[in-house]
Amino acid sequence: MSLYNLRGRDFLCLKDFTGEEIRELVKLGLELKRRYYAGERTIPVLAGRSIGLLFQKPSTRTRISFDVAVYQLGGHPLYLSWRELQLGRGETVPDTARVLSRYLDGIVARVYAHRDLEVLAEYSDAPVINALSDFSHPAQIMADLMTIYEKTGRLSGVKIAFIGDGTDNVLNSLMVAAAKLGMNMSIATPRELYPNRELLEYSMELAGETGGLVEVTEDPIEAVRGANVVYTDVWVSMGQEDEAERKRKLLEGYRVDSSLMQHSPRAIFMHCLPAHRGEEVTSDVIDGPQSVVWDQAENRLHAQKAILSVFIR
Ligand code: CP
Ligand code: NVA
Repeated sequence: MSLYNLRGRDFLCLKDFTGEEIRELVKLGLELKRRYYAGERTIPVLAGRSIGLLFQKPSTRTRISFDVAVYQLGGHPLYLSWRELQLGRGETVPDTARVLSRYLDGIVARVYAHRDLEVLAEYSDAPVINALSDFSHPAQIMADLMTIYEKTGRLSGVKIAFIGDGTDNVLNSLMVAAAKLGMNMSIATPRELYPNRELLEYSMELAGETGGLVEVTEDPIEAVRGANVVYTDVWVSMGQEDEAERKRKLLEGYRVDSSLMQHSPRAIFMHCLPAHRGEEVTSDVIDGPQSVVWDQAENRLHAQKAILSVFIR
C-alpha cells in the first residue's frame, strides 16, 4: 500500500486515517529507525524544505525530536514561540497561518485549544502537524505504536490498560488508534473523569468492527489483568493547573505502583513523559524492568521522520 495520497494533507487526528495507513506509517518509522542504525544518518527527502515548529506550551521531547527529525531529513527546522510571534500581541491565527504558509513547507504546532490547530490548517496551504493540543497527541501515539510493535511483535490483539485521567489528550489518541487497529483497550479512571463521550462511543463502535475492544472501568486491577501494556500519563495536563488539587484527589487510587504491576507481570510499562514521579507512577515502576519509556521517547524521532516524509510536499 502506498502512503502517497497523504502528501500535502494535515496530520491533526488519527480519526482522519485508516487502520492500514496508520500501520504503514508505523512500518515506515521502524524502517527509518533501522536505516538510521545501519549508518544512514541523513535521508534528504526534505532538502530545500523549511518546517516551522510553533509552540504555545512547553516541550522537551516533541520540540527536540521534531527539530532533529527535520534536520535528519535534510530540511530546515525553525522553532517559533507563539508568545514571541505577533500572535502573542493579538495577530489572529488565520492571518498568521496565511503568512507562515507563504514561507514554510509545513507547520508543526502545539496549542492549548485544539480548535486553533484546525484554524491553522484551514488557512495554511502547507500541511499542519499536531504536536499536542488539549484534545489529542497523535504524533506521540505513532511512536507508542512503534514501541508496542517492537516489544510485543504485533499490534492487533494487544491489550493496553490505561490507568489515570480519563480526560487525557494522549488517551484520546490512544483510544482511537486502538479502535482502528483492533487492539484491546481497558481504561481505568474515576467516574468524575469519564472519557470524552463522543470519542469513546466512536472508538467502542469502531473497535467492534476491527476485532478490538474499548472499555472503561473504575478498577485499575481489573484493567491491568491480562494486559500487554500498562500506560499512564500525568494527572494534571498543561493548562489544567487550576484543577490540580481536584484531580489529584480523584486520582489518588490510580497510581501505577509495583503492587498494581504485579497483576500484569509480563506487561510493559509506558508513559509519554514527562512523568511526575510519585504521583501517577512510582520510581520503582518507571525505573523497573517492565518500563520501556526511554525507547518510547526515542521512537518519537523515528515516528516523526515517517510523518514528515509522508505528509510534507
Ligand atoms: N511526550 C511529550 O510530548 O513530551 P514533551 O511535552 O516534552 O514534548
Ligand atoms: N497530557 C499531558 C501530555 C504531555 C506530553 C499534557 O497535555 O500536559
